Amino acid sequence: MNIKEISGGIYYVGVNDRTTQRFEGLWPLPYGVSYNSYIIKSDKNVLVDTVEQSEAGLFIENIEKVLGGKDLDYLVINHMEPDHSGSIVDIVNRYPNVKIVGNALTINMIKGFYRLENSNHYLAVKDGDTINIGDKTLKFIMTPMVHWPETMMTYVCEPAIMFTGDAFGTFGALNGAVIDHEMNTDVYFHEMYRYYSNIVGKYGVHVQKALAKVAGIDIKMICPTHGPVWVEEFARVVELTDKLSKGEAEDGVVIVYGTMYGNTARYAEIAAQRFAENGIKNIKVYNATFAEISDILADIFRYKGLVIGGPTYSANLFPPIEALLKALEVRELKNKALGVFGSYTWASSATKLFHDYSLRLGLPLVSNVEIRQRGSEQNEEDIRMMADNIVHAIKLL
Ligand SMILES: Cc1cc2nc3c(=O)[nH]c(=O)nc-3n(C[C@H](O)[C@H](O)[C@H](O)COP(=O)(O)O)c2cc1C
Ligand SMILES: [Fe+2]
Ligand SMILES: [Fe+2]
Repeated sequence: MNIKEISGGIYYVGVNDRTTQRFEGLWPLPYGVSYNSYIIKSDKNVLVDTVEQSEAGLFIENIEKVLGGKDLDYLVINHMEPDHSGSIVDIVNRYPNVKIVGNALTINMIKGFYRLENSNHYLAVKDGDTINIGDKTLKFIMTPMVHWPETMMTYVCEPAIMFTGDAFGTFGALNGAVIDHEMNTDVYFHEMYRYYSNIVGKYGVHVQKALAKVAGIDIKMICPTHGPVWVEEFARVVELTDKLSKGEAEDGVVIVYGTMYGNTARYAEIAAQRFAENGIKNIKVYNATFAEISDILADIFRYKGLVIGGPTYSANLFPPIEALLKALEVRELKNKALGVFGSYTWASSATKLFHDYSLRLGLPLVSNVEIRQRGSEQNEEDIRMMADNIVHAIKLL
């Protein structure tokens, strides 16, 4: 059970998911994930967001306990993605008088996903609208594309709490405690790189807009839809989100390679050694065939240097490397010192394809080393020079 009064009259009623293996069918969940939901009790009672449908039973129990027989008046949907809207139908069945509060886009999506067509179910709100519920007032702030086009935040002025949807969220189920200062938050910060780069990474510009929009608002507590409620580490979470969404990174290098026969791998090891000789301490080397792209993306967002090695494969890039580059293009990767290399045997395509990706990413290549078969001592020297140049470029980022 996860019920906790996090502020006067405001309760956490979310649930943990330690069963789902891949979030969005893609991203591993080694520490599980929480779907956070909150009740605001006053003259009128409000539920902010729901949880995955699979967890609806426990969720309704939590709500019934907190409401103690009272009715639910409003259900605010800040974000319509099914991890937060999946229990809407269960809520409407249990509390038929409830008004679902959302913007026009949200309401349309709910109709499409859950066939709740009757307009009486809904109360549409726009940016800046407020609803008074007694001793508290809710204010709605539109923050589109943090993570979907309909996303908004809900602010409760009196205790200065912002319900932020997916913004400031992270993977990792909640292990008993709900508020940051009641737990060791290391795992949640570790997972935040993965959560941000995997889920929200593409929308950095919109995250920046949302941060600017809420910057002037007095906020003492952040209540996201995943992970801990942030009070004491509030500033650290906002700063990390700001950095990641601007493309600011830490000193360090990620080397990702794909290989069939070991030729490309050999040069990845040479590069890693040279970075170490240059005093770089954060060096992450990934074999793209076996590593989770989720972890690779997290470290690429985290560190300034990036080296990608991939052989030519049927006049294309090696498939896991192609998939990675596509994922980086989708996420509009910024501000990296990027070097590439790859082995071929009869006609190289990798060199040109790497070059094309660098143009599309808007990231100039520090070097693009083409290696025939096992390559030469000159190639080894080229790779060392690439590492030296990346170390230099990192200092300028
Ligand atoms: C399915 C397959 C397709 C390949 N296609 C090409 C190609 O189009 N052009 C080329 O020069 N080499 C091609 N090769 C050969 C490899 O790119 C080359 O042997 C390279 O050295 C492999 O690097 P690695 O040892 O890092 O796997 C292909 C190999 C395989 C298995
Ligand atoms: Fe989402
Ligand atoms: Fe979510």
